[in-house]
Amino acid sequence: VNHHSLAVIPGDGIGHEVVSEALRVLQHVQQISGRFQLDVQHFDWSCQYYLRHGRMMPEDGLSTLSGFEAIFLGAVGFPTVPDHVSLWGLLLPIRRGFDQYVNLRPVKILQGIESPLRRYKAGDINFVVVRENTEGEYSNIGGALRPGTPDEVVIQNSVFTRKGTERVMRWAFELARTSRKRLTAATKSNGLNYSMPFWDEVFRQVGREYPDVDQSLYHVDALASYFVTRPESFDVVVASNLFGDILTDLGGAIQGGLGLAASANINPDRRFPSMFEPVHGSAPDIAGKNIANPVAQLWTAKLMLDHLGYPEEGQWILDAIEATLLAGIKTPDLGGTATTHSFTDAVLSRLPA
Ligand code: NAD
Ligand code: IPM
Ligand code: MN
Repeated sequence: VNHHSLAVIPGDGIGHEVVSEALRVLQHVQQISGRFQLDVQHFDWSCQYYLRHGRMMPEDGLSTLSGFEAIFLGAVGFPTVPDHVSLWGLLLPIRRGFDQYVNLRPVKILQGIESPLRRYKAGDINFVVVRENTEGEYSNIGGALRPGTPDEVVIQNSVFTRKGTERVMRWAFELARTSRKRLTAATKSNGLNYSMPFWDEVFRQVGREYPDVDQSLYHVDALASYFVTRPESFDVVVASNLFGDILTDLGGAIQGGLGLAASANINPDRRFPSMFEPVHGSAPDIAGKNIANPVAQLWTAKLMLDHLGYPEEGQWILDAIEATLLAGIKTPDLGGTATTHSFTDAVLSRLPA
């Protein structure tokens, strides 16, 4: 049996509810598989932790996490703490500190799901977004001049490095090569006249190494419209940090809802832990009611098993989710009456025994 150390950070709001359900599923899968054991340690780092300690995690939080192979996270952020404080105190330092430069976010209509784009059925939409996850628009560099005065000026810089841009492009090209051989990049080189022309140049330059991959470049605004008008035409989409963020909530919507959208923050060199968390947030509007959809977190657990080397076991989870949805068992966001817990029970009963 292979041991894998796993840091679990439920975080805030529905993060707690969906993480505990996903851990039940992982526990079952590891038992049936017999090939691996997750050595789990829990961390209560969150907005509640912040209210008690004045920080989102201990000062040595990152070095504590660096001893783990993977991190399984629910969501961070709650109205009790300003969002930029909570996110820059926990989630974003993990992505950057551990060089998790690939944020992989699948967009796929599962069996049993009705997309708001009614003409598309299960599997008709099936692509992945590769979001740059360590730099770009999320630079943490900026500030205010003359704060609070009528002459106030606020600046938020974007940083695009050649290394940082090249490596995520190359990763996306490699993925496209193993898939349907089509890579689409999101740009905005009309309005952003330094960052995005550079982004385009690197895309074209790396692209010369991949003549077998069909390559297209669209302005992100047009691309957003194509997500709605012709989502079937995408295979792999590569985007900068902010554009990838926005495109993947749209991706979540067209696959049937944010409660379904999974995500993996990967450190491809495996020097540092990778982190697995859904696309959605802590959903304060529905927190504490046992009605959150656990599918995104469960699918995220599958992405984690893929990363740890157990794609077969990961597929068990996705198959059981689809069988559950096909049986008409759904949480209220999908028009059903199942609770977070009863939905997961239904998934558990459909896993190999
Ligand atoms: P959100 O994703 O939490 O919620 C958006 C909408 O989607 C809400 O109406 C919510 O009820 C619904 N929703 C989300 N997940 C759902 C699920 N599993 N089942 C059913 N419905 C679901 O986005 P928001 O409201 O913009 O953000 C809330 C907080 O979460 C903020 O503090 C934000 O910064 C944070 N956030 C954190 C992460 C993360 O930790 N990865 C991601 C996004 C937002
Ligand atoms: C996401 C979230 C985060 C992001 C926020 C909470 C900082 O929206 O994971 O998509 O923008 O990356
Ligand atoms: Mn987002």
